[in-house]
Amino acid sequence: MPVRTIIEPFRIKSVEPIYGALSTERRRLLEAAGYNLFLVPSEAILIDLLTDSGTAAMSTDQWAAVMRGDESYAGSPSFTRFRDAIQSIFGFRHVIPTHQGRAAERILFSVMCKKGDIVPNNTHFDTTRANCEYAGAEALDLPIPEAKEPSRMHPFKGNMDTAGLAEVIERHGAKKIPLVMLTITNNSGGGQPVSMENIRSVKEICKKHGIPLYIDACRFAENAYFIKLREPGYADKRPREIAREIFSHADGCTMSAKKDGMANIGGFLCTNDDLLAQQEKDLLILTEGFPTYGGLAGRDLEAIAVGLNEALEEEYLKYRIASTAFLGNHIGSEGVPIVQPPGGHAIYLDARAFLPHIPPSQFPGVALANELYLEGGIRSVEIGTLMFGEHATMDLVRLAIPRRVYTQSHIEYVVEVILEVWRRREQIRGYAILHQAKFLRHFTARLQPSPLNTL
Ligand code: F0G
Repeated sequence: MPVRTIIEPFRIKSVEPIYGALSTERRRLLEAAGYNLFLVPSEAILIDLLTDSGTAAMSTDQWAAVMRGDESYAGSPSFTRFRDAIQSIFGFRHVIPTHQGRAAERILFSVMCKKGDIVPNNTHFDTTRANCEYAGAEALDLPIPEAKEPSRMHPFKGNMDTAGLAEVIERHGAKKIPLVMLTITNNSGGGQPVSMENIRSVKEICKKHGIPLYIDACRFAENAYFIKLREPGYADKRPREIAREIFSHADGCTMSAKKDGMANIGGFLCTNDDLLAQQEKDLLILTEGFPTYGGLAGRDLEAIAVGLNEALEEEYLKYRIASTAFLGNHIGSEGVPIVQPPGGHAIYLDARAFLPHIPPSQFPGVALANELYLEGGIRSVEIGTLMFGEHATMDLVRLAIPRRVYTQSHIEYVVEVILEVWRRREQIRGYAILHQAKFLRHFTARLQPSPLNTL
């Protein structure tokens, strides 16, 4: 029999000890943090699944490239390597470096949008939405209906509702829609991929109306691999070829290199439009920096140039998608409700189904995330009523997996902790807010456990 175990395709050269806090200390630390995991110091976390952004382990090749970084203010060869690496995968004419994804978004929307415009997306990530709205435009989410049901299986649950898109363009007119965006994979919708067929159909609709299509490319390599695994006709193609095909349908992209760029910081904005590129570079100089560094050090540009290629390596993607699925399948098979099927970068627990006795007004997602911390020192993030207020349609807890950081036994530990919390779920209580900020309250809110269960 051939060996079937999928291994981490790397060995460990430099280790970072993790201690976490003793289980007896965790309750006190959580109380001191106002029951908000954002306010717990990271030294007191054992396994940190808060985000997959900027948390990747860099490879030996990336560290070697860091040493090659040329820190010249203008015309650095590090920028040339960065631009060439991006162009060979993404294929766009202009590459504009930024300090991270949201800076690319701000520049894109400032240049392309005005008050009263509408920007459709399968689902805007929260910074994308905020930057779009800051430019005066409406950020419109058009996911397929299946995306709204956590337990519903669909191979490409990140797809955009193309009939909805055509209808929005018909109703408001193309002049009001400066661009359409597709987020691959769809982070806010459960890390679910978008199919090539959907990308093609969205492009066709855009083309008919002369509207440019931009891709929020943060997790493009994971999306490309899902296409290889699930879409007819792609099984024999390399992830790199699939990525090239994806971007051949787009007019530009925004990217956070903190995800599939395998870097700890960085991002970029791409476009094929010469006039827009000029305006974007002018704005870049104002707040980010000269167009050959855009707020990044030369060494960051080098790390990204190498990281983008590593993210497309087939052995890496195979392990990456398998390890996320391992977590999802091992808790899913025990009855733990998750967003199905498992996504690329994260598993999302459905806290409303996990804790049906806690109403959304008492933050079931916060309650579940806090229990995972108390039980096993695991940090996750609530994506639900604390984050979105009454607009929340789901209460989810995201367990995002940093790239190349944790081994299978770490993930097995996470499975065990979740199952332990699942066993005693009926004793878990909800929370009430003690203090909250006016905007983005989830980052700083202070809470307290609710006195009674409202069964
Ligand atoms: N778009 C998507 C789909 C994202 O997931 C993120 C970041 C951004 C844009 C913004 O990029 O952080 O470099 O400015 N997502 C992180 C997360 C923060 O935890 O999912 P950024």
